[in-house]
Amino acid sequence: MKIRFEPAGISCAAPVGERVIDITDEHPDADVPYSCRSASCGTCRVRVVNGAEALAPPDEDEREVLTMFGDGPDVRLCCQLVLANDVEEEVVLALVDD
Ligand code: FES
Repeated sequence: MKIRFEPAGISCAAPVGERVIDITDEHPDADVPYSCRSASCGTCRVRVVNGAEALAPPDEDEREVLTMFGDGPDVRLCCQLVLANDVEEEVVLALVDD
């Protein structure tokens, strides 16, 4: 499967079981900002534009941070994302602009 990062417009291979943070570490041009890398700061919030069913659901720590920011269910913490299911379509993540 593939994953694309917006607004950078970078598309990468995305194997099942991979953590998205590992993909962005390998592709710094994806331009996802991180700080804590452990579900506490919210710096890495992304909107899941497409392919949400590829992602493992958020754990309690991630849900707490997203609730703090008042985000809807389409927003996730990129540092916590795991590609759990293979999907046909491209997974698309866009940086949250606020
Ligand atoms: S980098 Fe802090 S929550 Fe993801």
